[in-house]
Amino acid sequence: MRFRCHGCGVTVDAARALPFRCPNADAADDVDHVLVAEPPEAAFPSGGEQNPFLRYRTLLSSYRLARAAGLSDTAWSEIVEELDVGLIAVDGRGFRVTPMTEQKRLAAALGIKNALWVKDETANVSGSHKARHLMGVMLYLRVLEIAGLPVGRALRTHRLAIASCGNAALAAAVIARAADWPLDVFIPTDAGAAVKQALQDLGARIAVCERRPGETGDPCMKRFREAVAQGAIPFGVQGPENGLAVEGGCTLAFEMAEEFRRIGASPNSLFVQVGGGALASALAQGFTLARACGVLAKMPKLIAVQTASCAPLERAWNRLNSIDLAEAARHRSRFMWAWETTPSSLASGILDDETYDWWAVAEGMRTSGGQPVVVGEDAIARARDLAWSHTGIRASATGTAGLAGAMSLPGAQGAIAVVFSGVER
Ligand SMILES: Cc1ncc(COP(=O)(O)O)c(C=O)c1O
Repeated sequence: MRFRCHGCGVTVDAARALPFRCPNADAADDVDHVLVAEPPEAAFPSGGEQNPFLRYRTLLSSYRLARAAGLSDTAWSEIVEELDVGLIAVDGRGFRVTPMTEQKRLAAALGIKNALWVKDETANVSGSHKARHLMGVMLYLRVLEIAGLPVGRALRTHRLAIASCGNAALAAAVIARAADWPLDVFIPTDAGAAVKQALQDLGARIAVCERRPGETGDPCMKRFREAVAQGAIPFGVQGPENGLAVEGGCTLAFEMAEEFRRIGASPNSLFVQVGGGALASALAQGFTLARACGVLAKMPKLIAVQTASCAPLERAWNRLNSIDLAEAARHRSRFMWAWETTPSSLASGILDDETYDWWAVAEGMRTSGGQPVVVGEDAIARARDLAWSHTGIRASATGTAGLAGAMSLPGAQGAIAVVFSGVER
């Protein structure tokens, strides 16, 4: 099985190297390096398993690696189920297909005439979709260990590492704990006391990252990259740092696509809140695969939602115009760089100063006929309040920001889908 960098085109053979970060990522060549698994040849699975990592296993590179390494289908199920037992012990729940429902009262309150579908991720493992991304990585690590592949030798001596102080950090800590794998979390100086406590309770080691004199960019990302350079396993949710994280998130799109097929509905647009961009990238790739497998007749238009306070993706999109995307991937800095001003928003989880996965999100928007939309604080607050009062889903303002996008584009035709994620803590 092979992985290919969407920027430089280098391929990585899974039997010989770890397919996390592109081997050319440090070349300082202005290329957007992200490793992506070569598309599976399997048909879209038709099983009824409730655990998405069992149900969609044939579409996951970790499963393909397991089978290529001689592990049986039963051995795979045992790996997933063992982690499931660990997750239930740590977090009270394992991965199950999450609900998606048509929200008529919410649509009426917003004056939306067409169907409004809400996929609810707030009761997922650790309270958000982020755990899906990291389960994708953990399954790959477990397969390497259990198959005894040379490339995974002494893997357990390497700690996991993530830079985050929100939903991603909590998800990482829950999954690391369930797998009994030590984790370092790089957090900013202003990280909330409750999150710090929760991380420590889960056994994670936290490192508070001060900005060093003269340093620009996110100090947590810098310390995280230093740790990875010294051997830590990248366990974050940014595609450029670990492409496998994006793949785990595709299970969200698979569930949605399958449910739309079951009910005979077809969303015209999918509004997605975008911070680092891994969620939107995963949805774009997952829906593309589901469409290619004939699950859906067409891709929903991908509409990426950012706040006016921090919108590096929209800035990149405006510079792209009709430029060939393959060309854009070779000149990253013309399109993506850190947002210059310090942002602030009720949707604090989507204030990443760079949209790390911008390229795949731009590709998804382009191929689906979508676009970015930038929303103000009024819309962010209203979306969260209406979500609470009309659906009963207690998602954070970050996790309802996709709805704020739908409210801000009233001309959008046809059925709309959004993802509510990140339970209000
Ligand atoms: C609840 C929720 N939704 C969406 C996002 C955005 O995800 P991404 O950073 O992958 O764009 C985040 C990120 O923290 C989040 O916590």
